[in-house]
Amino acid sequence: MQIMTHLKNHKNPSASVNEFFNDQWKLYQKALNNNYMGHREIYGVLQKFLIEYFPQPFAMLDLGCGDASFTCQAVLNTKIASYQGIDLSKVALEIAQSNMALIPCKKTFIKEDFSKFVDELVQSQDNSFDVIMTSFALHHFNSEQKDWIMGQLFHLLNTGGVVIVIDIVRRAEETRESYIRRYLENVRQSWSLLSSQEFSMVEEHMTSSDFPETQATLYELAQKQNFTRFESIYSDPLETTQLLCFYQ
Ligand SMILES: C[S@@+](CC[C@H](N)C(=O)[O-])C[C@H]1O[C@@H](n2cnc3c(N)ncnc32)[C@H](O)[C@@H]1O
Repeated sequence: MQIMTHLKNHKNPSASVNEFFNDQWKLYQKALNNNYMGHREIYGVLQKFLIEYFPQPFAMLDLGCGDASFTCQAVLNTKIASYQGIDLSKVALEIAQSNMALIPCKKTFIKEDFSKFVDELVQSQDNSFDVIMTSFALHHFNSEQKDWIMGQLFHLLNTGGVVIVIDIVRRAEETRESYIRRYLENVRQSWSLLSSQEFSMVEEHMTSSDFPETQATLYELAQKQNFTRFESIYSDPLETTQLLCFYQ
């Protein structure tokens, strides 16, 4: 199967994700509750985008949805007609289901590796979406895998659809190592409620599992995969994170 060639070197995501939810869930909640990763600003921009770009009902796929605690706020007052959340963590999906309960649309939650999930959808040709978003999850894949995933997502979009990537992004000319060093320096200075053990957990997670790309690399991938237009509609003041839109 095609996916085997592209993803065979991918570290078993179930192992790292189970670890994420068993050992790091409280830490991630702390980061969300204190807005350490900038979710409030990013998801505010996302909500405005969804309201303006989709005056008509839209179908949304959320890859690596986690507990959907910010997604449920971003889709408030939009024309969302259906929502599918995909995650490897059963715990996260249960919380996501409860967070999304107030949103009046059709909802589905599926426990699966999203790279396998999109491959199956493309092959079955029985589903398409107006918005496919992935927030703080794509950076776990290497560039070849990201390229392949972007190609699959292109095929799953309805005409006029958009892929939204919220993720850590390196500055042009910045290496992965210098990006991680810069990011961790800010964690040390500004994530003031972290214990030293929690700081070590962030450091270990980033060093072993995070592979941020530059904006230019992500645009190249998008162009290669036939997206017609791409833009960044939000970058944080420290230039560590962006909200990127890729239009079909
Ligand atoms: C850092 S959290 C982000 C959660 C949420 N999207 C947000 O922005 O707050 C990453 C999420 O992606 C999920 N995840 C990572 N790799 C995945 C994969 N290959 N397939 C499905 N879910 C994945 C993890 O379980 C986790 O819930």
